[in-house]
Amino acid sequence: MDRSDTIGLVGSPGQGTCTFQAAFSCDQRMESKQVFSEDRRRFLRQAANAGMAWGLTSLFRGSSLRGQTVAGAGDIAKVYLDSRRMTAPLDRNLFGSFLEHLGRAIYEGIYDPGSKLSDANGFRKDVMEEIRQMGVPIIRYPGGNFVSGYNWLDGVGPREGRPRVLDKAWNSINTNQFGTNEFMAWCRAVHAEPLMGLNLGTGTPEEAAALVEYCNLDQGTKWSDLRRKHGFAEPYGVKHWCLGNEMDGPWQIGHMTATEYGMKAQDAARQMRYVDPSLQLIGCGSSGPFMPTYLEWDREVLEQCYEYVDGLSLHRYFTNTPQDTGGDSAKFLAMNLSMERQIEETVAVCDLVRGHKRSPKKLWLSFDEWNVWYRARSGDATNGHHREAPHLLEEVYNLEDALLVGGLVNSLLRHADRVKVACLAQLINVIAPIMTNANGLLRQTIYYPYNWGLQYARGSVLNLLVESPTYEVSSLGQVPYIDVAGTMNPQDGKVAIFVLNRDLSKPHLVEINWQDKSPGEVLVATVLTGTDLKAFNTFEAPQRVAPQTFAKPATANGRTKFEVPARSYTTIQWSA
Ligand code: AHR
Repeated sequence: MDRSDTIGLVGSPGQGTCTFQAAFSCDQRMESKQVFSEDRRRFLRQAANAGMAWGLTSLFRGSSLRGQTVAGAGDIAKVYLDSRRMTAPLDRNLFGSFLEHLGRAIYEGIYDPGSKLSDANGFRKDVMEEIRQMGVPIIRYPGGNFVSGYNWLDGVGPREGRPRVLDKAWNSINTNQFGTNEFMAWCRAVHAEPLMGLNLGTGTPEEAAALVEYCNLDQGTKWSDLRRKHGFAEPYGVKHWCLGNEMDGPWQIGHMTATEYGMKAQDAARQMRYVDPSLQLIGCGSSGPFMPTYLEWDREVLEQCYEYVDGLSLHRYFTNTPQDTGGDSAKFLAMNLSMERQIEETVAVCDLVRGHKRSPKKLWLSFDEWNVWYRARSGDATNGHHREAPHLLEEVYNLEDALLVGGLVNSLLRHADRVKVACLAQLINVIAPIMTNANGLLRQTIYYPYNWGLQYARGSVLNLLVESPTYEVSSLGQVPYIDVAGTMNPQDGKVAIFVLNRDLSKPHLVEINWQDKSPGEVLVATVLTGTDLKAFNTFEAPQRVAPQTFAKPATANGRTKFEVPARSYTTIQWSA
């Protein structure tokens, strides 16, 4: 792909200028959007001609760094923490995830009736136990690209009558043995809320509203009675719904223009709300900054349906490829700053349309697909060849991927004022923190930073002021070595911080300055690090990249000092 990078420095709206943000296009999403590579190549050529390539400019140069103060910061990174200074209450749904009918995510991953590890429903017990322990709050389903060709009626009713369908998004066979009711039962079992995706590709607004009626109405109507006839008396009360998936992408089944989509989404939203006025609806935003229609798509869509939706979606996958980063890990580890720019630009568009409409309503964002993904992204890794449960998108994650995922967790936390839902894409076997085989499961490297967010980020996000020394990244300019996010739970007074050290060769001293009160004892101190950035876990060597105990730092005179190792992501939690 003929594309270069851009990095920019932008402010941190409404947060008291305490984050340092940069951005550059780094996304190679087009690489395997479609199973059929000729279509993909054609789209890329056209996009390049249309000026899709972002210029390689360093917007850091000559900028004054807002947020993390650099001038005079010296060698020690300083974090100023005042528990009265909050960015926003943390919505737990910021740490959601995603399960698509794709590869071995559903079949084999969570549903495997033939397995010795499954229960009477065919659900893998070990997987359910893992998800329960992690406490994943919300899970998006059933796609992804898959949803745009999915007929939900194929997946309900007696199993023996369900059709084997060719899923054209991934060229795979869907037996439909797992559908809406199985997903609801599975969500209940793992204590997660469903985030239902709707087919606005081949599907109609009427079919979308019918699914809402099937899921949420008690009885006495065509679709609620059908659910009862299928053996499920209780309505599910599904609250969050995605109005389509990546409808801006030419790879998407049923792709259309922004205005067409905006009108279809508006119609679907209206019909769905007639059925259940309490729904929270997410409009389909731009698939990412690499799109020629980036932001313009969002604006046009919202001009049509701003009053009908509550949130807007964003997606992003990061890569460390010769094209995007030159394979430079120091640059790769700065990519989370690019996510921040994407969030801020999308918020700006939402608020622009809000202004046009003079609307009292402020939209929130649903970052409902984010991860690292670039190796298993073309050829057979994306083509199911008409098989059931093929091995697709089985990305193997290494240490540097986990460090960036830690940075991405930090970026999401820092934007918790507007991002209310986010989904690590995905959860099991497909670009996933957890892999399964016939005998058990494996935690990939990215499992750890994601799980730390789930376990320790609680209450409200702290508005930290961070001073960090910086490093020069080719064509990016100055990037801080130390990236910090933190939370405080007003209920129990616990404080947690999450520290990424982007320095590939040196440890760094970090000093926390407790501005209003000193913390209690250290409850958790753990670090993910290693000498080999490319190290990864396997079923044979599952602990190659795993958390290590971090020496509990002491606090004296309102200061806590500790050293974070090179190439590391550290979490520390204190009691009140
Ligand atoms: O998560 C994998 C795919 O990436 C999803 O199906 C699609 O929405 C995105 O392009």
